Amino acid sequence: MSGRLLVVGALNVDMVVTAPKLPGPGETVVGADLQRHGGGKGGNSAVAAVRSGADVRYVGAVGRDELGMTALAELRAEGIDVTDVVIKEGSATGAALIVVDSVGENQIAVAAGANAAVAAQDVSTAVERASGWPGCVLVSTEISVAAVATAVEAATAQGWLCVLNPAPVEPGIRELLKLAPIITPNQGELRDLYRLLGEHGDPPVEMMAAAVASHTRAPVVVTLGADGVLSCGADGVSTRIPAGSARRVVDTTGAGDTFNGVFAASLAAGEDVTSAARRGVVAAALSVESAGARTSMPSAPTIDVVLATADSTNT
Ligand code: RIB
Repeated sequence: MSGRLLVVGALNVDMVVTAPKLPGPGETVVGADLQRHGGGKGGNSAVAAVRSGADVRYVGAVGRDELGMTALAELRAEGIDVTDVVIKEGSATGAALIVVDSVGENQIAVAAGANAAVAAQDVSTAVERASGWPGCVLVSTEISVAAVATAVEAATAQGWLCVLNPAPVEPGIRELLKLAPIITPNQGELRDLYRLLGEHGDPPVEMMAAAVASHTRAPVVVTLGADGVLSCGADGVSTRIPAGSARRVVDTTGAGDTFNGVFAASLAAGEDVTSAARRGVVAAALSVESAGARTSMPSAPTIDVVLATADSTNT
């Protein structure tokens, strides 16, 4: 399987402390050694996509510093085309401070740095270069809203499939929902979108997804962690896809990014939403088995084996 995917998003270096529990407000927790991993929702999704068999071009920004050069080298080593990464003079490379607890849950604070400086023009230049190339564009919202808007508008204008991962939900993306991107929120982000659209309360996920899909007229694919994925069609009809199984949960950081990267890569390769989401949940489950967002993101053959085993068990 090899689709062509343009990923527009944030690239960070993750500074990770594993501690017995996550700190509460004003609380100090003590872990062992500091670990450094590649991160950022854009960078993580790009790595998941390329490992799952896609050709990937990455669009984003770093600072002219050691973290930025390392982050770029890591993407290049995966086989990702980073020609469209802009080095922002005067900005630091994005960094995330992450605490992971003993059951793999995390708490993340991001210093956006160069990610916030990704400009609409940077995206336009990359889109021009990519003219006629991608099967799909995956956009996530840890970069400036202007850059997100340019990516979604360009994908629409060029007739490319567009997946928008609203993580986090920014009020400025409301207008973009009319352009019918496939949206991939988690449950909290779905609620934020629902309220952004003027709805009230906290109804069941199916109802919120249907309300958002009636606005976008496109599938809404909600990631639910250990409960898998809820895929709601443009017609408002939902299907549940169970989570893949992990042998152990070490670190859930980047599981959503893994889903998004593999999901978008599979769409780019011509799979339908349901089979793309099935590949995504399998990959996301495997990604939690090691420390660091990207360490155990799987290859295409590994995903194929897990899917084939699941299929033979179900028949
Ligand atoms: O989704 C996980 C990612 O969120 C981390 O890698 C961190 O960099 C933040 O962007």
